[in-house]
Amino acid sequence: MTSGGLDRLLAVLVVAMAATGLLTLRAGSPETGWVYVAHGLLAGALGAAVVLKLRASLGRAVAAGRWRRLALGLLVTGAVAAALTGGWLWVASGELLSIGSWTVLTLHAWVGLALVPLVVIHLLPRRWRLLRPGRSTFARGRERLVSRRAFLAAGGLAVAGIAASGVALGLERLRGGERRFTGSRWLASGTVPPATTFFGEGPPPVDPATWRLDVGGRVARARTFSLAELARLGETDLVAVLDCTSGWAVETPWHGVPLDAVLRAAGIDPGASSVTVRSATGWSAVLPRAETGRCLLATSVAGEPLPVGNGAPVRLVVPDRRGLDWVKWVRTIEVA
Ligand code: HEM
Repeated sequence: MTSGGLDRLLAVLVVAMAATGLLTLRAGSPETGWVYVAHGLLAGALGAAVVLKLRASLGRAVAAGRWRRLALGLLVTGAVAAALTGGWLWVASGELLSIGSWTVLTLHAWVGLALVPLVVIHLLPRRWRLLRPGRSTFARGRERLVSRRAFLAAGGLAVAGIAASGVALGLERLRGGERRFTGSRWLASGTVPPATTFFGEGPPPVDPATWRLDVGGRVARARTFSLAELARLGETDLVAVLDCTSGWAVETPWHGVPLDAVLRAAGIDPGASSVTVRSATGWSAVLPRAETGRCLLATSVAGEPLPVGNGAPVRLVVPDRRGLDWVKWVRTIEVA
């Protein structure tokens, strides 16, 4: 493979890793399991491509004394190695591996995201060669659609992808670790989930006595509910898996008012297509109307009143979605 081809491949693999990584944040149902498989296989291919790139470029850059490019190249390589190591360590350790208050899974994702601008800066000086392969590439391409070397390289990368994932999985099995298909580690069932937020920020000031839920948009009667008025709509239990993108999952019973009961009480327009549930923090989840039937506005979890860190007084429970969509400290519902 040519040096330009290798650079293109690296850029594509890094972007694909970041893209599939970002997709995992919203991939909570088993049908989306392919995203995780793709992420794992691409990781091995990226590892192999970085080794090829180092072999091809390191010696030449040192001989030519291109120190600035070399330093940037090594920074990119270090970041790729850190992201890959973090991912594989998460799998192979078989446990909820953390450094301080951050899980290794979260740390590897931040490094992975930082990689995208780093790679762009690294490849910027050669952008024209990367974006517009030379005439000779096309000429060669006409003669032979896929060269034997490119074919072998692609095969090698695919094997590397499968092998790396396989080794990490094998080590995990040896250590008796178990993950959900999302990569999250199971916590004890029936327990109160840990209270986490995306950046570790604290809960907003919400007083349950004065708290109100505003329901508006495409409804016959825009309404405001107190906690007592909500409870009068009829409470129910729901066992659901909360799967946090920081890498843990817990199956536990939730108790509260079905979201559809609230929407019916406000006279939801039969033609409504989506419902936005928004937190006192401004964070929100948009649910297609078809999905609201299985959602709950929870006021307690695992037999205990909902803790403040878990979104008290009211938290949205959305089975088959990842924790990002389980809006805490719910304040408003807007029908569209
Ligand atoms: C260039 C960037 C990235 C690299 C190199 C990378 C690397 C890895 C590796 C090596 C694994 C272990 C795969 C396995 O063998 O199962 C992994 C897993 C995972 N990564 Fe990334 N990652 C990147 C970006 C991201 C981002 C941006 C996110 C999320 C925002 C993310 C989320 C995940 C998740 C959820 C898993 C667990 C999947 C599982 O356990 O099956 N990754 N990553």
